Amino acid sequence: MQNVDHIAAAGIAAIESSSDFNTLELVKAQYMGKTGELNALLKQLGQMPPEERKTVGAHINECKNRFQTAYNAKHEALSEAKLQAQLAAEALDVTLPGRGQNSGGLHPVTLTLQRVVELFHSIGFEVAAGPEIEDDFHNFQALNIPQNHPARAMQDTFYVENGDVLRTHTSPIQIRYMLDKKNPPIRIIAPGRVYRVDSDATHSPMFHQAEGLWVEEGVTFADLKAVFTDFIRRFFERDDLQVRFRPSFFPFTEPSAEIDIMGDNGKWLEVGGCGMVHPNVLQNVNIDPEQYTGFAFGIGLDRFAMLRYGVNDLRLFFDNDLNFLKQFK
Ligand code: DAH
Repeated sequence: MQNVDHIAAAGIAAIESSSDFNTLELVKAQYMGKTGELNALLKQLGQMPPEERKTVGAHINECKNRFQTAYNAKHEALSEAKLQAQLAAEALDVTLPGRGQNSGGLHPVTLTLQRVVELFHSIGFEVAAGPEIEDDFHNFQALNIPQNHPARAMQDTFYVENGDVLRTHTSPIQIRYMLDKKNPPIRIIAPGRVYRVDSDATHSPMFHQAEGLWVEEGVTFADLKAVFTDFIRRFFERDDLQVRFRPSFFPFTEPSAEIDIMGDNGKWLEVGGCGMVHPNVLQNVNIDPEQYTGFAFGIGLDRFAMLRYGVNDLRLFFDNDLNFLKQFK
């Protein structure tokens, strides 16, 4: 039985050189399995004299214990190595800079629209809206612009089906509101998208307007001047802003005026149109022009945004360039 130590030494060496679990288990089976080499030695004990059997048996068991200890140690070492490899593979570099979160912001034209609405809301104007696809009646006829009237040439229109149009101004909201509400007093501010066949640095085929309307007994042009002047001074936060009402023509107002403000360069700049609501318009919405008068105005919100933020090309608002838009957050 001299070869007990020999077999045990070979087994332990094989355990120690195992580099993966598969090999380790094969080696274990080879030595410790039912028919493994160390167990085979035990079977030979039966042929030995009893005295010898005892000591050799004890020695074999001692070898099996050493083998098992070597196996346990190796198993633990392989498990540890596997864990370390996994940790290394899944490691997070906590020193990497964060990705950060981009917070959104409102579009400068939306900010302008909200500011206009808030200012009128603060003096008792209600917000009104209407559809962007309008019929001829609301966009033109009810506003005293008859079919084939030369005044239609003032607005280059996008026609859609059945003679409907992409509304060319927010003025049809006046008509819808008055027909709906029926009785003065009527005070509304109506912002929205409008469309015209027009495109250059200061014109876009889609742009934004806000319409104002106040109809009540005794409303005069003086009220129009006071309300609008106060509004525009608050809008630009300039108490000394000079405002001019320059006689003009619109079919739906009489008298009519363009509104100009004095720019920093000392030049007048047009910001909108206005006037006293034409008696024909009031009649078209069943309001008695003998009893009621009203004023109306329309302003270009994109123009207001350009002035407020110092933007010189209207197209920048609609290019969706984040580098530009982010500045207004
Ligand atoms: N609707 C006109 C336009 O788009 C602007 C306008 C002028 C509106 C005078 C008004 C007004 O309400 O009274 O050119």
